[in-house]
Amino acid sequence: MERFRFAAWAEEYSQKTNRSLAGTRLRIDTEAAGENELMRARDWGMVVLPAGQDTDSSCMEATIDATVPVDKVPDARKLSGAEAMAFAQNHMPVLDAVMKDALQHVDFTGISIAVCLILEPKTAILLRQLKAAGAKVGAYCGAEANDERVAEQLRAEGIPVAYNPDWTPMQAHQGALDLLDELKPNIIIDDGASFARLAAMERPELMADIIGVAEETTSGIRAFQAMQDAGKLSFPVIAVNDSMLKTGFDNAHGTGETCVTTMQRILGSDAFDGSRVTVVGYGPVGRGFARRARALGADVTVCDTNPVVALQAVFDGFRALDIDKAVPDADMVVSATGVRHTIAMEHMREMRQGAVLAVIGGIANEIALDELADFHAENKREIRDLAIPDGPTIRLVSEGDGVNYTVGGGNPIEIMDLSFAVQASAVTYLLEHRGDLENGLQQLDRNVDRHIAEIALRTRGYEPSHAVADNGYDWTMTRFAENETEKE
Ligand SMILES: NC(=O)c1ccc[n+]([C@@H]2O[C@H](COP(=O)([O-])OP(=O)(O)OC[C@H]3O[C@@H](n4cnc5c(N)ncnc54)[C@H](O)[C@@H]3O)[C@@H](O)[C@H]2O)c1
Repeated sequence: MERFRFAAWAEEYSQKTNRSLAGTRLRIDTEAAGENELMRARDWGMVVLPAGQDTDSSCMEATIDATVPVDKVPDARKLSGAEAMAFAQNHMPVLDAVMKDALQHVDFTGISIAVCLILEPKTAILLRQLKAAGAKVGAYCGAEANDERVAEQLRAEGIPVAYNPDWTPMQAHQGALDLLDELKPNIIIDDGASFARLAAMERPELMADIIGVAEETTSGIRAFQAMQDAGKLSFPVIAVNDSMLKTGFDNAHGTGETCVTTMQRILGSDAFDGSRVTVVGYGPVGRGFARRARALGADVTVCDTNPVVALQAVFDGFRALDIDKAVPDADMVVSATGVRHTIAMEHMREMRQGAVLAVIGGIANEIALDELADFHAENKREIRDLAIPDGPTIRLVSEGDGVNYTVGGGNPIEIMDLSFAVQASAVTYLLEHRGDLENGLQQLDRNVDRHIAEIALRTRGYEPSHAVADNGYDWTMTRFAENETEKE
């Protein structure tokens, strides 16, 4: 039998199935695998379950069986749109439970919902759930991050999808406006504040019918915050991104995991082993990537402009350096900031010949490619050599766009199950509080996180603990009062 190597297994399993490795059990022959490989799996967030040990049948869905050779695992990328959606739906029990719950007390009938998200099988399940609840739904997606079979399947199910791989930027703009005109949305589920800003700026007459917006990403929250600061945010926005069940899992685990495995697919499964990797930006996304790259044998240096965050990196066991010092030595530089021109021309000039450059966050021109006169991005191109004027030739991954959603399968299914459970809760909240919501950015109640986490734990065969006594806090119980009672 071939020796189990976590790096190669993780890459192939994750890319073939788009399932989350973090948060699942790994059923494996532990002796044959060896402690080093098991440590890697644990560092990636897997609970190791020795083969032969009984598995509770209620949580088999949350177990990955590595005793089955990975080349025998069916490749979900080759499924039809309908099959890929069915596969995703099987691993999205949390969204399903949240929607069933919502339907007990909220009426979705006739509510028009425009969804502007990366269109993948997981997103399609969210759209399907909302439609099944009685809402009128439609989706817009840019050509750089789309799954054609899903778009076709959704159209066949009566869900309009504004997307065409051959659209010019102008046609895409018009396609987005046409969808807004067709849907006249009451709710927008947004990514990067794209659709809501388009509606507010170019279709102001539609804004009277808007109940609110649910925003998925860090970059989108930043844009809405800027709008609010300028006194221009005239509708309620639920910061879905800021929910712990989103940022703490999607950003912190899903993105790191799928960016590493997609880069392995492009560069080779051992690409991280012995590599010097510089991670620029140590928010949840950078952290998730750095931790996984290190588990695969990389020597990771972190650069973050926030000294508190840089200190966190040091306490996590990484070197923290200024970008000018960290770039020249690196075999691989990744940007995880979501900030324009994080990697400037001067940084690219200092990179090593043949070093790899990638973005794992993802806003336009996070790498200053707009300053390169001859650069024209090519949709879904995985890697290219890029000659930097007065500098080296470096290797650019996915045209400087977010690696996992442009040339990979996007964030894993079980992770998006959590994110979309939060999205569904945000839509439910908007409907429940329709008419008495304040304009501006708002957070979801923390109890929403607790409720979703509880469902997610149970679907994995786990549970939160309980306290035996009432732990309610009585502020009059000071240590002094207790001591005096003892003396009496
Ligand atoms: N690809 C995906 O699937 C995916 C998923 C989730 C989030 N994202 C995106 O990833 C990006 C990062 O997300 P996050 O939640 O970690 O963000 P974050 O804002 O929490 O963290 C970004 C970090 O980068 C640092 N930073 C900013 N500018 C810098 C610079 N010039 N040099 C060095 N450090 C700098 C900040 O101090 C911060 O610590 C966002 O754009 C987010 O929308 C992508």
